[in-house]
Amino acid sequence: MPDTKPAILDHLNQRLNLVKPSAIRAFDNEVSPIPGILKLTLGEPDFDVPEHAKQAAVAAIEANDSHYSASNGKIELRRAIAGFLADRYGLHYQPESEIVVTTGATEAIYDSLTALLNPGDKVLIPTPAFPLYTPVTVMAGGEPIYLNTEENGFVLRPEQLQAAIDQYGDEIKAIVLNYPSNPTGVVYSEDEIKALADILKQTDIVVISDEIYAELSYGDAHTSIAKFLPDQTLVLNGVSKSHAMTGYRIGFVAGPAELIKRVGMVHQFATTTASNPAMVAATEALSTVQGKQDSLDMREAYRERRDYLYKELSDLGFEIPKPDGAFYIFAKIPADLDQDDLAFSRDLAKQNKLAFVPGSFFGPGGESYVRLSYAASMDNLKEAVKRLTAYVEDQRAK
Ligand SMILES: Cc1ncc(COP(=O)(O)O)c(C=O)c1O
Repeated sequence: MPDTKPAILDHLNQRLNLVKPSAIRAFDNEVSPIPGILKLTLGEPDFDVPEHAKQAAVAAIEANDSHYSASNGKIELRRAIAGFLADRYGLHYQPESEIVVTTGATEAIYDSLTALLNPGDKVLIPTPAFPLYTPVTVMAGGEPIYLNTEENGFVLRPEQLQAAIDQYGDEIKAIVLNYPSNPTGVVYSEDEIKALADILKQTDIVVISDEIYAELSYGDAHTSIAKFLPDQTLVLNGVSKSHAMTGYRIGFVAGPAELIKRVGMVHQFATTTASNPAMVAATEALSTVQGKQDSLDMREAYRERRDYLYKELSDLGFEIPKPDGAFYIFAKIPADLDQDDLAFSRDLAKQNKLAFVPGSFFGPGGESYVRLSYAASMDNLKEAVKRLTAYVEDQRAK
């Protein structure tokens, strides 16, 4: 095994030195060896890929659909995406020029931030937030500015946004919004989104709107901010969460043509194009009657699990912001237990073999919370409640 030539190590990409490895992964690695551990840590649907979407991928392989596709993605898929966005969210994009298919929403985030940022540009990130936005911003030369939303039930207040704009002005290049939210499960109402859009309209800030959980909205219909700000929004979505297709790695970005052209350049230089069989499966998932029903069926299953966990955890004394979307509950540790979310999570994993993610991993506002993913079977959730109840009762008896 070769060692790296020592001098090379002195002048590697400095930006990578500013980025920390994923705390969630590190915690997951730490608790995984505990015998019998039950983990509600990962944002990974427990459903299989819908059979008809899977068969579409199989048929594509059988038909030797094995050559490079158009860099921005198969046109059939871009048409399916345009139809899906129009049908579900009232958004209108041209398949030919306003949509890029990416390798998961992860690449959509990377391409969007890389296409936009110059060194030193600031990116507003309401927190707690999906951790990926920070390293991608930093690797693209930008600087994350965190806006802690805990005080307002994890919804960014218009005054808070305005204050950041007053403070940083033109240094702000973009804001990342994510709703339904990972990690909080909180959604923004149409009024809340409109109030933010009214402020952003007065600026040249680009909105990177990560709507990967939009199909999993349990209350009012999801309202994309692109409805109010079509000329300065990049909408990110994909089939990972809506159709339990995380391993197929299909996401997309939709937005105005000039921005999409540049997002498409980054995408082309990074990956050329997404994988053909996965694109064919995603086309099936997004365009057929059955595919459009799949996400609704899964949503109902998640809703049942959410209702169960919400009640059980509330009864145990956890305070929970309204989890009206995605498949997470962000629970505040009761005041009579250890309020340090990392210590609490470690102890729970060690003592009662149950793993949640410490809330502080998601940035300012997450301290003293834990995130549970209910993308798990009802049996596992019942077992989790049993273990959590035993742990809490033990702690209270001390
Ligand atoms: C908010 C958010 N955005 C993006 C992603 C990445 O999605 P994908 O698996 O399509 O890359 C995730 C995955 O957990 C997520 O929670």
